[in-house]
Amino acid sequence: MSSDEEWYYAFCFVDEPDEDLVEFLEEVDNGKALDVACGLGRNSFYLASLGYDVIGIDMSEIAIDIMNEKAKRENSKVKGVVCDIQEYSFSEKFDIIVLSYIFHYFFYQIEQIGILNKFIENTKEGGLLFIKVPYSNERIGSLSLREGLLKNALKESNNKWEIIHEEVRFSGEEKKWGKYIFLAKKLEQK
Ligand SMILES: C[S@@+](CC[C@H](N)C(=O)[O-])C[C@H]1O[C@@H](n2cnc3c(N)ncnc32)[C@H](O)[C@@H]1O
Repeated sequence: MSSDEEWYYAFCFVDEPDEDLVEFLEEVDNGKALDVACGLGRNSFYLASLGYDVIGIDMSEIAIDIMNEKAKRENSKVKGVVCDIQEYSFSEKFDIIVLSYIFHYFFYQIEQIGILNKFIENTKEGGLLFIKVPYSNERIGSLSLREGLLKNALKESNNKWEIIHEEVRFSGEEKKWGKYIFLAKKLEQK
């Protein structure tokens, strides 16, 4: 294993899918899923196990190579593509788009808005948008998705959205750090 691969195994989530995806999603007969900044693809493989055809995008060639090799080995409906998420160009819309632990990479509000608008626009009507970010009472402005941005972007999109689940789950009693979990469904055009 190269040192870059070792880094991925040591510092990125590996096998277990996100526990909230597991809690909230159901099996489907078919559907297209996009796992944005998928890393090694723990959520991509889970989405495929639910019945989705999955595209996972990540800027790391190493992560995507590892993921594509696993997909081949396991004959899984997962396809990894090396790409910067800000440059991804859509040729289709998706039944579910997952953005798990990615917004803290983007410091500027303008970048976060651009990303939100792009993935909101490319969710199919009836489709789902799942977002998970680290949450901090003290540092929400610099570390995570800025409060209000998401709701505002949904409000300004061409569709109405039904919020299925929204929660800040704190890790300790001090309630300083935790996770923000968001799942919404895109409704018919306004
Ligand atoms: C903390 S990992 C999360 C991986 C995965 N979403 C999960 O929940 O397991 C963050 C991933 O974002 C990727 N990443 C960061 N900035 C990116 C960008 N601009 N475009 C594509 N991928 C990016 C990194 O390569 C890394 O794999």
